[in-house]
Amino acid sequence: MKVEGKEYRTIWFDEKSQTVKIIDQTKLPHQFIIKDLKTIKDAINAIKIMEVRGAPLIGGTAAYGIVLAIMEKNDPNFIKQSSQDLIKSRPTAINLKWAVDRMMNKLSGVNNNELLKVALDEAKEICDEDVKFSESIGLNGLKIIEEIYNKKKDTVNILTHCNAGWLATINWGTATSPIYHAHKKGIPVHVWVDETRPRNQGANLTSYELNEEEVPNTIIADNTGGILMQRGEVDMCIVGTDRTLSTGDVCNKIGTYLKALAAHDNNVPFYVALPSSTIDWDIKDFKDIPIEERNSEELTHIEGLDKDKKLQKILIYPQNSKAKNLAFDVTPAKYVTGLITEKGICEASEKGLKGLFK
Ligand code: MRU
Repeated sequence: MKVEGKEYRTIWFDEKSQTVKIIDQTKLPHQFIIKDLKTIKDAINAIKIMEVRGAPLIGGTAAYGIVLAIMEKNDPNFIKQSSQDLIKSRPTAINLKWAVDRMMNKLSGVNNNELLKVALDEAKEICDEDVKFSESIGLNGLKIIEEIYNKKKDTVNILTHCNAGWLATINWGTATSPIYHAHKKGIPVHVWVDETRPRNQGANLTSYELNEEEVPNTIIADNTGGILMQRGEVDMCIVGTDRTLSTGDVCNKIGTYLKALAAHDNNVPFYVALPSSTIDWDIKDFKDIPIEERNSEELTHIEGLDKDKKLQKILIYPQNSKAKNLAFDVTPAKYVTGLITEKGICEASEKGLKGLFK
């Protein structure tokens, strides 16, 4: 998608410098910086401090992390250790483990002198596949937006939470892909963007990327969605997910659950968009999903531009107050109208998912 009119993906391998290039998301929206990842440590750190984030992009970065490990030291023990360190870098998004396992399976039994080429091809394939899946999610979700538009004959108002945009994937996004497809088709859409405290991925990333693509959007505080739904100003919600269980329960950015409850109470359709790499076929009870707890400084402090346009971080809470920073919650399947996947739309249930993914 576009930044200042130029097309980008969120991650790519640069043949010339033999490095992995990423967009540093910790600096957006104020600075657009492309960063080099040169070592496995760089890749792990980028995931940990969220220079890259969003389930599919974390998966893509992990895949290239294995490539960087091989480039650093083509030694089976080092590569294995690197794969384990990568998996531990963030706990909730299942795409991370999915991508590392896929890379390691592909590499098993491959000759040492072919290892790097096979790894590079597979990492590229993982990323290319994610782009295709995101695009299909968009075309499938577009049908829902079209249906609402055909009934309403007026702007379709869509609420989204966090950033499940192209910045969270390799391109297109998951939740935003149907929106981008509708916009490109000329269907009038307007997006209510949840700010998404504490890291403000909605305001800093979703609104930023929608602006770059000229999709009308308005940032709202996280608690505003409820009243907008009561006023009939939300036609549908679309969110992404970091891990969806085969039961249809959806783990996503903290606050998603409350939005789903409000949607349910107001008969607003609540859709979740996901590629199949985000499905966890093993865990059956959502209480077993590892929920990331991040540093409380993400709550107590905030970063932004000062009057001289310099990035500054400031304390916003009382000095001695404690803060708890859970990064994800789970929306039970009963509150999810449907899952929009690359293979089509299904009910949020084992039956629904198994119908699409045999
Ligand atoms: O902590 P993040 O920013 O990595 O979390 C990402 C999300 O929760 C997104 O909302 C998303 O739905 C998953 S990625 C498409």
